[in-house]
Amino acid sequence: MIDRPTIERILDAAHIVDVVQEFVQLKKRGANFLGLCPFHNEKTPSFTVSPSKEIFKCFGCGKVGNSVNFVMEHEHLTYPEALKYLARKYHIEIVEKELSQDEIDKQNERESLLVVTSYASRQFAENLFQTDEGISIGLTYFKERGFRQDTLKKFEVGYSFEKRDAFTKKALEDGYKQDFLVKTGLTIQHEERTFDRFCSRVMFPIHSLSGQVLGFGGRILKKDPKSAKYLNSPESEIYHKSRILYGMYQARKSVTEKDRCYLVEGYTDVMSLHETGVENVVASSGTSLTQEQVRLIKRFTQNITILYDGDAAGIKASIRGIDIVLEEGMNVKIVLLPDGEDPDSFSKKTSNEEFTKFIRENETDFIRFKTNLLLSEANNDPVRKADLIRDVVKSIAVIPETITRTVYIKECSTLLEVSEPILYHEVNKLRQQKNIQDRNKYPAAEDLPIPPPVIVKPVRQEPVTLYSEKEIIRLLLKFGSTEFERVVSTEDGREEIVTIADYIVREIISDELGFDNHVCARIFDDVRFHVEHGLFTGDKQFVKHEDPEISSLSADLLSDSHELSRIWKEKQSYVETEEMKLKEIVGDVVLKFKSDKIIVKRKEIMQLLEEAVKANDTEKVLLLQKRYSNLSTALGMISRKLGNRILL
Ligand code: CTP
Ligand code: MN
Repeated sequence: MIDRPTIERILDAAHIVDVVQEFVQLKKRGANFLGLCPFHNEKTPSFTVSPSKEIFKCFGCGKVGNSVNFVMEHEHLTYPEALKYLARKYHIEIVEKELSQDEIDKQNERESLLVVTSYASRQFAENLFQTDEGISIGLTYFKERGFRQDTLKKFEVGYSFEKRDAFTKKALEDGYKQDFLVKTGLTIQHEERTFDRFCSRVMFPIHSLSGQVLGFGGRILKKDPKSAKYLNSPESEIYHKSRILYGMYQARKSVTEKDRCYLVEGYTDVMSLHETGVENVVASSGTSLTQEQVRLIKRFTQNITILYDGDAAGIKASIRGIDIVLEEGMNVKIVLLPDGEDPDSFSKKTSNEEFTKFIRENETDFIRFKTNLLLSEANNDPVRKADLIRDVVKSIAVIPETITRTVYIKECSTLLEVSEPILYHEVNKLRQQKNIQDRNKYPAAEDLPIPPPVIVKPVRQEPVTLYSEKEIIRLLLKFGSTEFERVVSTEDGREEIVTIADYIVREIISDELGFDNHVCARIFDDVRFHVEHGLFTGDKQFVKHEDPEISSLSADLLSDSHELSRIWKEKQSYVETEEMKLKEIVGDVVLKFKSDKIIVKRKEIMQLLEEAVKANDTEKVLLLQKRYSNLSTALGMISRKLGNRILL
């Protein structure tokens, strides 16, 4: 853990323009800088960097944040990784928080294992390129398969000797501890004897995202029915098969650039595609995809294209596993290679242009592919067709976006010759059964009428209070330390300055109101704490906050698009700047916040009231009626203050 003072130093040093400029060409525009957004494709610049606010914001795609958010997003790093990156850039020494003995042991063990795997990888490469046995057996094998030297170096492949304990012996001689050799799985211990897991194999190191060697795959060179073609490292503290995709380290840059990731089965498929110039490719290493692997890809792109061998008997079995990708809301396409070809063999026969042309012309949307595949098997057999419909419905049902589901239902209705309403009904039934929540607040799937509308209108249903909650936070961050009013103290007659933060915090606490949005709530609690301890210093501490949710909401609220309170835009046809009318704006926003809360509360009471009426609970009815009428009175007072209207 990096300690707080170090984080502060990094944030102070990492000026936004400086950080962004390393990746984006910026031009000065007034007080800001402007450039082409690195997060989406654009021809005219809408990516703005504000040095005074220390934030960036793209008005095209809406991405916004501080310098750490920028590095996280651009380089696909986690929060601590981004901090470390900036620390290196600004030559700041990282002071890590003290770890518990347990954490230290775990970290030391991980590091020791990584030292061993990295050593092993170097040894295997040395064996391959610099020893007689390696050259005559291993390197010859790779050459015969047509791999180029630069590809072999890029993937850091190697060779393990025939002798049963060659590697273990050498490693022990070189001072590596047997314990760690065993824990990485490179060495197998059997009672007193030790020997190598991998012998007589060409070795494929498996890298982490940052290029550390986590484990190995080793391929046998002779046909031997007794031993497996590939051997892999066992699970260890550093190697978790289900979280790793082979080739991600070498592919990550290209996946981002191409905004697409190809998925193949094996190590050699990945390497061959690189030789053809297709670098955005990873392998699942022969097993079905896990959710962790899908999310790994999703960090870089939303688009996956799966390449299938032309004769793969297992297609039908393996397409079941693809629902996991749909569930993540990603776009999946399938390419079926020509008969008898796998990605390795096919890419060796084609030039880059031919290969990409084939992909382009043959890639089919997954649901359509699946529907057609099953359809060709069902052969008009009604029972099998019913199974098939259920199967397709299953895939559509897991898609989180309502709009996407709607489009698929329409298309499959034509392909399957089943009416749309029936498909809707089945999809919605399944979603209900599995209790799948809509990710975005489109109308609930089961509320769709039958027959359904073809296009479902995307009505965004944010909680009614969100806008005024954000307005309060924005005013706190932007003007919190500005004077709101002066009051004369009753005790000593001296004049005291009440800041906007003082005023807002007091108003909200005295009415015992809270925030529904959890990020707003946390910012408010933080402001309140600082105000009550006389520590409040304005926006900076939040834009620089260590929690990315807080820093990015703050940055968003402080960016220009929020410049003028909407409440004011409606009330006053023309206000030059917010500052000029600050006191009135703050007063109005607080009132609006209160009225929003009351409206929500009143709705809840109305519901309770209806239930009480149904239950014939007279006492409760009277009580609730009273509360309802009190709230209405309060609402009336607020709306009179706001100018005889309720803003919605
Ligand atoms: N695999 C494995 N263990 C096996 C067989 C396969 O772990 N016994 C994994 C490997 O990651 C392999 C992938 O499944 O790369 C695909 O298997 P396969 O198609 O048989 O191998 P290829 O990658 O095509 O290897 P090659 O071209 O060298 O035969
Ligand atoms: Mn192969």
